[in-house]
Amino acid sequence: MIKGDKTVLNGFKSLIYRSGWLYNAITRRLYDQDKKFLTIAKLIGKGPKRVLDLPCGTGYLMRFLHPLIEYEGVDLNHRFLKRIKNKELKKRNIKLKKIVLKQKDIFDFQDYLREKFDVIVISDVLHHVYPKHVELINMAKESARKIIICEPYAVKPKEINARDRVFKIIIYFGKFLPISIIKIIDFLFLDNDGINPYHKRDKWSFNFKTLKEFYKTMGFNLSFCLLDEYIGVWESSVPLYLEKTSNK
Ligand SMILES: C[S@@+](CC[C@H](N)C(=O)[O-])C[C@H]1O[C@@H](n2cnc3c(N)ncnc32)[C@H](O)[C@@H]1O
Repeated sequence: MIKGDKTVLNGFKSLIYRSGWLYNAITRRLYDQDKKFLTIAKLIGKGPKRVLDLPCGTGYLMRFLHPLIEYEGVDLNHRFLKRIKNKELKKRNIKLKKIVLKQKDIFDFQDYLREKFDVIVISDVLHHVYPKHVELINMAKESARKIIICEPYAVKPKEINARDRVFKIIIYFGKFLPISIIKIIDFLFLDNDGINPYHKRDKWSFNFKTLKEFYKTMGFNLSFCLLDEYIGVWESSVPLYLEKTSNK
């Protein structure tokens, strides 16, 4: 089920990117993950459909998908993929029509974008891959009938409005830390995914208002706020029968 020639090891990852269990535990305390993925699943709709989750992280989305969906998840984090296979699918009794997991760089498009998907989900990653976020969306547009982006507009510790009281306190005091200490904390414990360096991720400067504008300029016709996240939906204007004729 996990495809890929061999396990690719990336650079040093922070604590939360070393354990899928910890990643889920922390993100659930910071954001409302259930509400987010349930909303995305509703936007995808009921199967049969081919869905690409780019990148899939710990595969949380699968918990909410309709059983007739064929799911493909791509991520470079081998620990997350292993956890999906060994724990998530069994513990949550996830039964989808087909599940394919690939350990690939999401920018190696030729490795996984061979056929058209009904839906591509791009969740919580644009701020990681900055400044290549536009390239990722444009490539997804070539390969999907529908794209659902879900991006938090609060990613820096001082902007996050944590759900959990303990994390609220930690974040409150975190606001007073100098940038040099924040960099170390990011490297060891926070958003350091071992793939995208801090100096690039740090340049992500979208907020509530500018993220909405960005979705609009990228042609996303539906966008709405969901707690600390902004969801955008793009749909291809090419009718299905024309796609089929041009593919012949
Ligand atoms: C914040 S997590 C989001 C995961 C999932 N989409 C979600 O919403 O929970 C970011 C993920 O992006 C993955 N990632 C970042 N850059 C990547 C790249 N170039 N290729 C593949 N995966 C990447 C990391 O491994 C990590 O699992």
